[in-house]
Amino acid sequence: MRRPLLLAALAAVSPLGCHAAPAGGDVQIVFAADQLGYLAPCGCSEHQLGGAARAAGAIEARARRLPTLFLEGGNLLFGTLAPKPDEEQQLRAKAVAIARSWAEATAGTTRRFRRGPYDLVAGAAFADSALGSLPPVSGGEVVKVGGVPIGLLPLDGPPAPGAAAALRKAGARVVVALAQAPRVADAQLWGQAAGADLALQAGVDDPVQDTDEAALVPAAGPPAFRVKDKGRSLLALTLHLPAGAPAGLVVPEPAAQRAARANDLDALIASDRARLQGAAGPLRELLQKKLTELGARRDALRRPETPPAGRAVAEVAFVELGDGSPEDPKIQEIFQRYTTLVAEQNLAAQKDKICAPPKPGELHYVGAAGCRDCHPDAAQVWDRTKHPHAYQTLVEKGRQLDVECIRCHVLGYDQPGGVCRLDRVGALGGVQCEACHGMGSAHADSMGDAPMPIPKPDLQTCLRCHTPDNDTRFSRESYVSYYLPGILGPGHGKPAK
Ligand code: HEC
Ligand code: HEC
Ligand code: HEC
Ligand code: HEC
Repeated sequence: MRRPLLLAALAAVSPLGCHAAPAGGDVQIVFAADQLGYLAPCGCSEHQLGGAARAAGAIEARARRLPTLFLEGGNLLFGTLAPKPDEEQQLRAKAVAIARSWAEATAGTTRRFRRGPYDLVAGAAFADSALGSLPPVSGGEVVKVGGVPIGLLPLDGPPAPGAAAALRKAGARVVVALAQAPRVADAQLWGQAAGADLALQAGVDDPVQDTDEAALVPAAGPPAFRVKDKGRSLLALTLHLPAGAPAGLVVPEPAAQRAARANDLDALIASDRARLQGAAGPLRELLQKKLTELGARRDALRRPETPPAGRAVAEVAFVELGDGSPEDPKIQEIFQRYTTLVAEQNLAAQKDKICAPPKPGELHYVGAAGCRDCHPDAAQVWDRTKHPHAYQTLVEKGRQLDVECIRCHVLGYDQPGGVCRLDRVGALGGVQCEACHGMGSAHADSMGDAPMPIPKPDLQTCLRCHTPDNDTRFSRESYVSYYLPGILGPGHGKPAK
């Protein structure tokens, strides 16, 4: 995947800041947003990103170097606005564990936690008690970070023009708009209208929202940023604020992005060189001119960019929280306590749950044992895949009592004929036939006359479980080359021998 784009590139200058501060200094803003109830990767697939333990490692390392303002843009505690009844208790316990983890992770910083709609799922009182000592962003305030006054302006919609002016009057050297906006471009516009120096976006209300990180550095107006959702990246902005600097923030293009653009030009140059071989006349001249121009642009990109002296500069870095990120042991411990707690709670909550059999005539799951006799070849192919072991995998990790895991690792959780109680999985563990083919009762009862709901499962069937969050390798291409061949065989989608 490509690196995040600076949507419009290069040294743009944001216009404002009438009160140039007298004192100079370097400070850092670390920004996270839209964690959406994400505490740790499920461990389903390789190279999964994110998790509070990794974020803590990254924040602590940065806070040791520079005075740091940590900003949480909102939507930290929950990942859904409508939890299912049997998930509610666990999701609350997770919200508490998340809040504790982030309190620990940001202990060495000056910090503010904005509330978003996904923080208020269990009510404002619950959010207040979970977030406890973590200070909210109040109506608009100036916080001192390493002696530098920074203004924070929370926005839920287009602001009154010049809303940042009051914060500047109160001494803010830099004004940051925290925008709960559908897109980073909206955050930028709101920040511009307010007269802020930069805008940070959080917000997941819009179904077509970008979930990747983005930096928008327009020619006019403040730069705006968002991070990947579900805690998969952080933004670190290092602000160099020399004494007496004029208004506005210069945002140099990140070195990695310049290098990537230079490499893109290299590829273009190589292909134009090849075209030059066979060209003659005016076309040849045109190509030669273009090559000279491309070469000059590439060479300029290979030289380090030096921001103008004496200006206030914001250096941008996105921190990806991947395999290489160190994990904070204190947060791993919070996570362990959380998994133990929910296992006990869920077991207790289901202790008296009555599992009614399917109603007469109701379509329901029957389980792989009810298919095997009539489809022995298909069953033998299935036996050799990883799917029948999916429940055992959870047991080995001690996560079989977790209502957030069970759904994709057993047959029909909480549905007719499927697994009803976490402690009574029985023969319905694993990804069974009907997880792909649909409920089979009518088909089996009719000796195969009634068709299966999904006779020919396809890519969409797999995507119900092999989601981008749970399987980082699954794609249209790998479906054809790896996943589908992995489940088919003689008598199951291939001619029987
Ligand atoms: C009593 C025997 C019987 C049972 C039990 C049974 N099937 Fe079948 N199944 C059949 C027959 C017969 C056919 C039709 C075979 C054919 O057309 O080649 C069939 C066809 C199918 C097909 C192919 C449909 C198509 O249109 O290509 C699928 C998929 C299938 N069964 C899945 C299942 C699953 C999953 C179960 C268990 C829930 C199951 N069957 C249980 C007898 C059975
Ligand atoms: C109900 C959820 C579910 C559905 C639907 C599902 N899978 Fe899976 N799949 C899993 C789980 C869970 C595992 C991991 C099992 C384990 O290792 O414990 C898995 C593992 C696999 C693997 C093994 C991957 C490896 O590590 O080598 C393949 C291949 C696979 N699935 C293919 C498919 C295909 C193709 C489809 C669609 C036709 C599909 N799956 C549909 C849940 C599902
Ligand atoms: C949306 C469906 C889904 C949910 C929910 C889910 N998993 Fe998985 N899980 C999968 C799939 C798909 C795979 C196979 C991925 C692959 O082959 O890369 C998998 C594989 C795994 C594996 C096997 C990895 C390996 O080494 O082969 C583990 C362990 C696992 N899941 C644990 C969990 C835990 C713990 C949870 C709950 C926090 C969970 N899963 C929730 C779909 C899911
Ligand atoms: C991970 C998803 C998945 C699981 C689990 C699964 N199947 Fe299938 N099944 C498929 C796919 C995909 C096909 C091929 C569809 C096609 O031909 O386009 C298929 C085809 C079939 C067919 C048609 C066979 C043929 O060659 O025409 C039968 C019968 C069948 N499955 C039965 C079963 C039975 C029985 C089980 C459990 C023992 C099972 N399937 C488990 C995905 C699955």
